[in-house]
Amino acid sequence: MKKILLTGALGQIGSELTAKLRSVYGSDNVIATDIRETDSHVVHNGPFEKLDVTDAEKMFDIAKKNNVDTIIHLAALLSATAEKKPLLAWNLNMGGLVNALETARELDCQFFTPSSIGAFGPTTPKDKTPQDTIMRPTTMYGVNKVSGELLSDYYFQKFGVDTRGLRFPGLISYETLPGGGTTDYAVEIYYEAIKNNAYTSYIGEGTYMDMMYMPDALQAIIDLMEADPSKLEHRNSFNVSAMSIAPEDVAAAIRVHQPDFKLDYDVDPVRQAIAESWPDAIDSSAAKAEWGFKADYDLAKMTADMLEKLKAK
Ligand code: SER
Repeated sequence: MKKILLTGALGQIGSELTAKLRSVYGSDNVIATDIRETDSHVVHNGPFEKLDVTDAEKMFDIAKKNNVDTIIHLAALLSATAEKKPLLAWNLNMGGLVNALETARELDCQFFTPSSIGAFGPTTPKDKTPQDTIMRPTTMYGVNKVSGELLSDYYFQKFGVDTRGLRFPGLISYETLPGGGTTDYAVEIYYEAIKNNAYTSYIGEGTYMDMMYMPDALQAIIDLMEADPSKLEHRNSFNVSAMSIAPEDVAAAIRVHQPDFKLDYDVDPVRQAIAESWPDAIDSSAAKAEWGFKADYDLAKMTADMLEKLKAK
């Protein structure tokens, strides 16, 4: 990775990944793009271009003009929004991906795009979900993610594009809010803990999903992209997780710092159904074995950091 093009750079992952990549590879070597332009460090601290990822020609032109050798394609709709607007999700998630893969093929770029725990479905084993297993998702987002994994594998096998990916769990962070995801409760709960010392969860008690703190997610992207390709058996995409948690676990971790924190529930049937179709706890051992994945933050350490950072904010 020397000259990197990012799509979706103003999103939850993109805003922090842009800053991290600029600190590692140099500000001028990270070309951030997004469909909107906001008053963000992403726009001000290095090259930035407005880009709708369904515009194949513009994506290619930006990549070519900047001589990029790496494409990190993040722009996508998350699971709950995709369920509300399935055709838009197909067009944006798959259209953007194929444009990014084509640009990588034509310009001989290394390529990363995230998959998700959403790529699994109700017939997938729920606990210690293996790297290679049944994948029959029942959401549009999941259909997009499985298709994306297969398409990325295809571009590697057929055209030799150096494609790599991670199946991210819910990502928890304090800089940019996620939007339209099923795992978003695990971010909102910290904001509400600071503001109101209380949270009403749209995900029900006892609903376990995998999660990870953003610093671990960013490091995992860099480590995978820098990994020795001869060691990579899976490429698209590796299971990675740092913790498997339910809302009451997060509440208990918050109560270590705020003993009176109150959690109650008002379950949203749409997002609850999505959550129940996903695994409880995935197995990250292939990522550990093939490129040394590790997570530094567990629930307790993440909670302490989230509360401290959000208080300061
Ligand atoms: N965080 C995503 C979502 O909830 C899962 O990849 O949609």
